[in-house]
Amino acid sequence: MSDRLFIFDTTLRDGEQVPGCQLNTIEKIQVAKQLELLGVDVIEAGFPISSPGDFNSVIEISKAVTWPTICALTRAVEKDIDVAVDALKFAKHKRIHTGIGTSDLHIKYKFNSTPEEIIERAVSAVKYAKKFVEDVEFYAEDAGRTDNEYLARVTEAVIKAGATVVNIPDTTGFRIPFEYGEKIKYIMEHVDALSAGKAILSTHCHNDLGMATANTVAGVLNGARQVEVTINGVGERAGNTSLEEIAMIFKTHPDLNIETNINTTKIYQTSRMVSSLMNMPVQPNKAIVGKNAFAHSSGIHQDGVLKNAETYEIMDPKDVGIDDNAIVLTARSGRAALKHRLHVLGVDVDGEKLDSLYEEFLKLADKKKELNDDDILMLAGVERTRDHHIKLDFLQVTSGLGVRPVASIGLDIAGEKFVAASSGNGPVDAAIKALKVIIKRNMLLKEFTIQAINKGSDDIGKVHMQVEHDGAVYYGFGANTDIVTASVEAYIDCINKFRK
Ligand code: KIV
Ligand code: ZN
Repeated sequence: MSDRLFIFDTTLRDGEQVPGCQLNTIEKIQVAKQLELLGVDVIEAGFPISSPGDFNSVIEISKAVTWPTICALTRAVEKDIDVAVDALKFAKHKRIHTGIGTSDLHIKYKFNSTPEEIIERAVSAVKYAKKFVEDVEFYAEDAGRTDNEYLARVTEAVIKAGATVVNIPDTTGFRIPFEYGEKIKYIMEHVDALSAGKAILSTHCHNDLGMATANTVAGVLNGARQVEVTINGVGERAGNTSLEEIAMIFKTHPDLNIETNINTTKIYQTSRMVSSLMNMPVQPNKAIVGKNAFAHSSGIHQDGVLKNAETYEIMDPKDVGIDDNAIVLTARSGRAALKHRLHVLGVDVDGEKLDSLYEEFLKLADKKKELNDDDILMLAGVERTRDHHIKLDFLQVTSGLGVRPVASIGLDIAGEKFVAASSGNGPVDAAIKALKVIIKRNMLLKEFTIQAINKGSDDIGKVHMQVEHDGAVYYGFGANTDIVTASVEAYIDCINKFRK
């Protein structure tokens, strides 16, 4: 008999903390529904006290999904818990995730406190949350660097106070798998309430040293029965453990006797949706969902795979939802084909939205003969920027060898038209300088990445930018067959976010 491993997805909380990857409530609902289809057990929907947007998202996600437990994060503070309880009022199954730092560093510098006082605060937060919800999870922040004996005492105390899950986060991604596994083992062996089945341990690993997945597996092999993960491993800094890796590790190793509820055939679709909504590209060699994850280029491998796929493939791409026969759409494809392909990719559009997307699709199909999934998701992403306050009206650039590039630009700002021109040391520089003649705000371009979606000189270029304004960094995205236009669109996308 296999042991059930609970999948706690924190894409919408820890994953969404990445600068520039913030989603609006509608996008979060879209992701939450997809996570429900994927079969996750718990969706961490936000940190309600942190902002009205997070509060609202927890409310709306609670209404939108049925089966998964909806979890809200809090500090070990009564006010946080009150707000989380309020945000969870529509959830069919609800959980409060409360906690406090337990490492010496956190106790001394963050809280100016003592280990005993921290246990008291942890216990009273759990008891307080327990007054409102049955399902309370406690996190011992920086557990990775917390002394094991003390961590076991904290775990014992919070379970006694009513915690049903105790989360052991390697917050800084510091531990190596052997150490993290030992930590989980130590707690399992020294907390009687765990062997008595009163609560389970959860892993929550960060990827700063590239060991999040390995640490999570070590945690599970030593007794943890919940894993906290994100789609594509998104998350602050180097990210969190990725859901798809954990699901496929236990699927491809049935001898480990660990079972999840994940419908793995929905993995690829979910990965594409999250990547597209967050404008966060998936690295091509990313395990399971990267573009090259199943692409065999060496002749020897190709020959082997053609004779028998198992010679070089440990998983069937179909098991993760990669469809070899993915249809390529062309200018002759109808609205229904576009709608169907978008649906397969996890984006549902209808009515006027579909009409305008179809128009954009035809324009792009005129420039590029064949449109693949990435092109189509890109179009769906561009569609979301339609209600921007500032829009690019036109852009004309002259550049080439031996001439100083010159750009003239037209912007539509809330319906009013503005025109300006400038020269620069390159076409993008000229275009951005022209834009700055109209938008006179203090802005500094911090990062600028250009990426081609596929190959071919007719391909779409995707531009990711980060612009600093008033001490905050804003993330923008643009995509166009004209790379200068894509760059200006990305810059404008950043500026449109200044106002929020
Ligand atoms: O990494 C961490 O410690 C966290 C906690 C808030 C659970 O995200
Ligand atoms: Zn975290």
